[in-house]
Formats: sequence, structure tokens, C-alpha cells
Amino acid sequence: MSDKKLSGEVFYPSENTLKDLRVKKWDDLQKAASEDYEGFWSNIASELHWFRKWKKVIDDSKKPFYKWFTEAKTNIVYNCLDVHMETFRKNKLALIWEGENGDFKAFSYYALHRETNKFANVLKSMGVRKGDRVTIYMGRVPEIVIAMLACARIGAIHSVVYGGFSVEALHERLEDSHSKLLIVADGAYQRGKIVNLKSIADEALQRAASVEHVLVVKRTGHEINMEFGRDMWYHELMNMPFAKSKCEAEEMDSEDPLFMLYTSGTTGKPKAILHTHGGYMVGVYATLRYVFDINDEDRYWCAADPGWITGHSYIVYGPLLNGATSFLYEGAPNFPYPNRWWQMIEKYGITILYTAPTAIRGLMRFGDAWPGRHDLSSLRLLGSVGEPINPEAWRWYHSVIGGGRCPIMDTWWQTETGMFMITPMPSVPLKPGSGTRPFPGIEMDILDEEGKPVKDNEEGFLVIKTPWPAMIRTIYNDDDRYVEQYWSKYPGYYLTGDSARRDEDGYFWIIGRVDDVLKVSGYRLGTAEIESALVSHNAVSEAAAIGLPHDVKGNAIYTYVILRAGVQGSKELMEELRNHVGHEVGPIAKPESIEFVESLPKTRSGKIMRRVLKAKALGEDPGNLSTLED
Ligand code: WT7
Repeated sequence: MSDKKLSGEVFYPSENTLKDLRVKKWDDLQKAASEDYEGFWSNIASELHWFRKWKKVIDDSKKPFYKWFTEAKTNIVYNCLDVHMETFRKNKLALIWEGENGDFKAFSYYALHRETNKFANVLKSMGVRKGDRVTIYMGRVPEIVIAMLACARIGAIHSVVYGGFSVEALHERLEDSHSKLLIVADGAYQRGKIVNLKSIADEALQRAASVEHVLVVKRTGHEINMEFGRDMWYHELMNMPFAKSKCEAEEMDSEDPLFMLYTSGTTGKPKAILHTHGGYMVGVYATLRYVFDINDEDRYWCAADPGWITGHSYIVYGPLLNGATSFLYEGAPNFPYPNRWWQMIEKYGITILYTAPTAIRGLMRFGDAWPGRHDLSSLRLLGSVGEPINPEAWRWYHSVIGGGRCPIMDTWWQTETGMFMITPMPSVPLKPGSGTRPFPGIEMDILDEEGKPVKDNEEGFLVIKTPWPAMIRTIYNDDDRYVEQYWSKYPGYYLTGDSARRDEDGYFWIIGRVDDVLKVSGYRLGTAEIESALVSHNAVSEAAAIGLPHDVKGNAIYTYVILRAGVQGSKELMEELRNHVGHEVGPIAKPESIEFVESLPKTRSGKIMRRVLKAKALGEDPGNLSTLED
């Protein structure tokens, strides 16, 4: 691929980048994967530990319910921790953590193994068994990693709820998953203030019935309510005689669930995306290794939150499977000053930084002087994820942060894909704003409404044509919705929900979501969640939410509200409604604007036509209005 002259703005890999690369180059992998797709994945899987080997790599007899590595036995946590106990990595750092207030903790693989085992024994003593669901709700602290690993070790299914979500979002997820245990932190630091996670959880628990016990991790140490018989302190349990430092990893079937993670869809409630031990493990291990060329000298920092898929795959499981050192930071990028991140890159000698365009744009606003004060020469690779990166932010990231020497891995993927799907590798020529091409062996296409591939540079629906190991297995408790949502528009193909185009060099360019999903500061939110939070307020009769372009956030939330008869719109009510959405869903969902209206554009069947609202707000032509009711 590197021999051909490419069109547009292209950054070719430097001699240094290619010389230092420890993994196979793109072309070699592509060749191997296209010649024998199953063999390709089977070889990668063989690098990991299995209690029992698989019979088949892919079983597509019940598609779209694909199975990977059938009849094999493994445990992802065994591969994350136990295998390293036999090597020099036992005493290598697995996790380095810095708190917003400057607190510091570091765990060797040995220490992380010990803490995970101890907590796994605590979970067992609380009656948690294989297949039980456990909800985890806290900020970016090491215990979130320990809790996830401990669950997976004993075969319990973790459901992490992002610490920035609030009462109703947490309640809905507790209830839908029938979690019997909630692991929560007393609070989280955010810009010097304390977010009272435990009190949010208490309120959510009043609405949820399945939870028997609550384990509380002490982070902020402020006064909280502890309900006798229900709530217990993590640190006290970890000192009990039953919290022994040895707990065998459960032998899991490849297809046994590992975790579920809620994400927003087109309509209705968030859906629980289900991932499994075997395929997910192989996909995440391989993609991190080949795309970020991760190795033992690296200090790798994925600046996402463990509460989202990026954190699951590439803060927790991916790095540990590769025996890497992962860095976790509790706070915001610009607190107390806009150099906080750059300071930590210098302090810890971070070699790989993986973050979202919204963070880059946010930091770029403060100018070059802030990063300029720090030695960022330890960096060798950069990454981007979550939304399309605009070329201007790409160039700034590349030249100011990466010193012009670090290739940027713009990785396109989703909660559902579990692993990178469209992504470069360090050996691939880059074009700012494009994630380049699908990972070796994975076939993707861009289709028109009728299902025909579009021509070069034409926009269409992005689909995935080949199964991949870390693929979603189903929506928890809702197989029908899984089929309907992802596999029905073009039978046999997985529908991503994104629109994209492909240029004359075969490079993919993501345009954005084509459904009612918004990307606000990289966070995925559904218009339906924002609307139902608004409607749950007693002043509101109907509501519509849309996303409009925003310089830093990508999308900003605009809402239109019809008030109940007799209620008067006012500035105070607007503020009250914004806070209500913040309280129910979370601060990230607070609308940028609320407009009180008399009516909403609807189809004859009563569906809100958000595209009409959007066109109107942007002063564009709303297009075909033939289905409009009024
Ligand atoms: C949606 C998935 C899994 C990563 C975190 C987001 C958008 C993701 C990119 C990228 C352009 C991107 C898509 C996708 N997206 N990465 N590199 N370039 N768009 O996971 O919350 O499930 O959101 O994020 O629209 O469908 P998610």
C-alpha cells in the first residue's frame, strides 16, 4: 500500500517509526487475514491461555448469533493477570493511578492479581455466583478496575455505569440487569468538588428492587448514609479473613458472558450490549497489539473513562492482556490548569496517548504555550476515538503534542464492535480525518438505501460484512431487538448506524450517525433519553431533542418543549428543566438550549421529525415534507 501515490493530504510513516515497529506491518497482516481468515484469528488466539482448546473458530450456523472459539474454556482475567505471574512481568507495573488531588497509587501485576483475588473472594462471600449481574458505579479510581476483574474472575457479569450518569440512568440499568449487587464509591472528585455518588445511588435504589447489597469504596471520605444490613465498606471487607489472596479463576466457556454495557440506541431505553470471554479477549488483545504496537517499554495512557467501552477494552482488558503498563487519571484535562495532562505525560513518561477529538479541541483552545512548558518527547504514538476528528485538530495534535513524530491512530469502532474496526497501524500512510481502512480481514462497505455499494466519494450507510471476534453477541434479554436493530436493514450485514464515504484510495471517512444518537463531547446519548427525562418533569407535556454542531463538543443538545396547559415558560423554568435532566440522566445530558413551543413537527403516525427541527435550526431546507402531519 505504501508504494502507491495517495491523493489529498497524506502523512507517510517515518523511517524511525518503521524501524522501531515490533509487530508485523499492515500488508503482511492483510495478506495473512485475506488468505485464511479463521487461521489468522486462530493463530492470534493461540498466543493466549485456554483451559481447553476450541473446536471451531467461527460457528455461523445460527447467524446473526455468531459464536467464536466454540467449546473452548478460558477466563479473560487469567490471561490478564495469572499468565504474567510466571514471567518478569510479575513485578512490572500494571496500573499507575493519579487522583485529581494529586494522590498516587501504583499496582504491579502481582499486586493487581492479589487485590483482584481478594475482592473475588469478597464477592463470593456475598453470595455472588457465575452468571449473576453486578453493577459498578464510580469515578476513575483503581477500585473500578479491581471490581471489574474480580467479577470476571468468578464469572459474574459486570455492568459498569459511567460515574457521570445520574439517578434515573443508574436506576434503569440496575433494574434492566437485575443486579444483585452494586459496587459504588462514596463520591468522586470533579474539578475540586465532590460528586456524591452514594447519595445518587441511594435515590436510584429506592426505585430498584433487585439489589441486595451495596459495597462502598471510600474515595472522598465525606459523610454518607450507610444503610444497616445493606451497605458495607469495601476496605472493611477486604480485611476480613474470607478475603484471601487466592481465588481460582472460573473456567468459562468462550461464549459465556463477560460483561454488559448499556449504550444509547435509536429509540427507547438504553440497551445492554453483551460481550463474551473468548472472542472479545482475542479481538481486544490483537487490535491493541497491532494498532498501538504496545510492548513492555510502554507507558500507555487511554484517557477515556472505564465506564465506557473504550475504557473496558483499552484501559482494562487490552493493556493487561498484553502485559502493558496502563495509566489512569481521575480528573478533567484542564483542572486546575490546562497543562494537567501535559504535566503527567512528562512526569510518568507516557509513550502512547489515546483520547477523543473533543478533548483535543478543548485543550487546543488554550494555545500552544501550555503543552510548550512540558517535555513531551516520551510520546511515540497518539490515538483518537469517539467521533470524526477535524483536520485542524489532527494537525495540532500531530505537531504540537506529537512533535511531528508520532503517527495518529484514528480508530473507528463502537460499544457493539468491542474492538477497533476501521483503523490505521503505525506503518500505514495517514490522512487527517480518516481512520484509513478496516482492520485486516474485516470487510466493510458503504451502501445506498437499496443495498447497492455507492461509488467512490459518495455518502451511504456503513456496514460490516464479516463477523469479527469481539462482536456484540446480543442485547441482554432482547434477542429480537438485536436482530431488528443491527441485521434487518440489509440481511446478513451488520448495520453500524453511521454514514460514511470511501475515497479513491479506499480510505473510509466517517460522516456521522444517521439515527437519533448524539455524540456530545464524545459521549453517546440518545435523543429518547433526554426527551423522556424532560417529559418526566411535571411542567412538560412533550419534548424533542436534536444535536447541532458545536466547536468543542461535536454535538450540542438543543431541545423543544411543549408545556402542560396552564404552565408559563420562563428563564427559571428553563434552568429548572436543565437541572432536572442533569439529575435524571447526568450532567453531560443537560441541554444547551430549551425552547418552549406550541407544537412539534410530526409524521401522521406521530413520530417527531427531528430532521425538520434540525434543518430549521440550521436555516437549511428541510427536504421532503410529504409525511408531515401538519
Ligand atoms: C460511535 C460509537 C468505541 C469508541 C467509543 C465510542 C462514533 C467512534 C470514531 C472515529 C468517527 C467515530 C461513530 C460510532 N465514532 N469512533 N474514530 N471516527 N466516528 O463508542 O459510544 O459506542 O459510539 O462513535 O459514530 O458509531 P460508542
